[in-house]
Amino acid sequence: MTTRKSIREQYLKFLDREPELDDLDFYCTEIENNRIHLDDLISILKNSDECIALLKNEIGKKNSEISTYNDIRINGKTISSGYRDSEKRYDEIFKFCKKFNRPISVLDLGAAEGYFTFRLSEDFSGVFIAVESNPQRKLLELCEKNNSKNILLLDKQMNLKHLKNLKEVQHFDIILALNVIHHFDEPFQDVLETLVSMSSFCFMEHPNVLENDSTKNYHRLQSETLHLEKFKPQLLNKTQSGLGNSINKKLDRTLWLLENTQPKTIDRGWRGTSKYDEQFGPDSDIKIKSNFDEISVDYGLRDEKRNWIPGIDLRTFLENNGVYPTNHEILKLIDDMVLDNAQDLGPHNLILNGSCLFPIDQNDKLDDVNTKEKLKDFLNKSGLL
Ligand SMILES: C[S@@+](CC[C@H](N)C(=O)[O-])C[C@H]1O[C@@H](n2cnc3c(N)ncnc32)[C@H](O)[C@@H]1O
Repeated sequence: MTTRKSIREQYLKFLDREPELDDLDFYCTEIENNRIHLDDLISILKNSDECIALLKNEIGKKNSEISTYNDIRINGKTISSGYRDSEKRYDEIFKFCKKFNRPISVLDLGAAEGYFTFRLSEDFSGVFIAVESNPQRKLLELCEKNNSKNILLLDKQMNLKHLKNLKEVQHFDIILALNVIHHFDEPFQDVLETLVSMSSFCFMEHPNVLENDSTKNYHRLQSETLHLEKFKPQLLNKTQSGLGNSINKKLDRTLWLLENTQPKTIDRGWRGTSKYDEQFGPDSDIKIKSNFDEISVDYGLRDEKRNWIPGIDLRTFLENNGVYPTNHEILKLIDDMVLDNAQDLGPHNLILNGSCLFPIDQNDKLDDVNTKEKLKDFLNKSGLL
């Protein structure tokens, strides 16, 4: 490499700009006459006020990225903006959710400041479940400020195994997988497939393959491009990444709507037993039948069909570190439960929707846990509450 090329490279690296021609001439002469070495120039550039100011700016940006990825929403108002365009993305999600003529269940994985969960909970009936474990997002605080009664928060850093476990026992009308799949250590495609398999529809946003090291796991973006063909992908919009240096910031990220075209099933009981097909043979799983007007569950084994109650069972909520509603509120919801001849009040038999606990399967068999006090005792003893 020529001396001039090396000098230019260092300018781009440390000052993020081209060298002035005079400076290029000056340093080239100095280096070629052995008055300084390239390492000396690197040291001069690194210690320059210009480079220090640039670094400070980068650090500032990184910190603000952590604190405000999406807009902050309190009591129906956006009170501050994040560095991603949340509203434009929400408009697409809103338009699609309008198609449902019934309450919906939505899982917002990697919810950050919860903008999408809060907006959906304002605009639709149903249950809206946020998953976020980074305390800097302050999502529990935001849930408490919003005091919404149709929101649940799981304070959990999910890995692929957690997602697979969740898939076996839950179904969501919609999953928001917005800019979160690339945070996983496991293969991106496996994460996506698991998410789609536990939902009817999935909104998915993923970094641009050209993004640089400001983006988590950027080095895997090229080698692990996502295959969307089997999910009838619809491209909804493109918004800038907003992340890193001026070039990276302008790269577009694409928002997709994906559809689960496979049979939707619940694969094992919420008590944590083995899978139905292992216990009872092939095709014994519970089938979810859903469209924009209705959702029901078909218990093939029991010749029973009934409406699906939006929410998640209390056991799954607590096992996945559910923190909103708080433990204190859960105890109150247990006290407020309306019971009629309760037979089995195990937490796997109680559907939580944020405002109440709804007992199901009370005619099956008598269980030891069949009163509110026994339930509290069980939760206490099993360390779930
Ligand atoms: C880049 S932000 C995206 C926020 C939001 N989904 C959006 O698009 O506006 C990713 C968020 O996902 C969270 N996150 C990353 N991996 C996660 C995981 N495995 N389980 C739960 N949350 C995760 C991070 O803490 C972070 O707040």
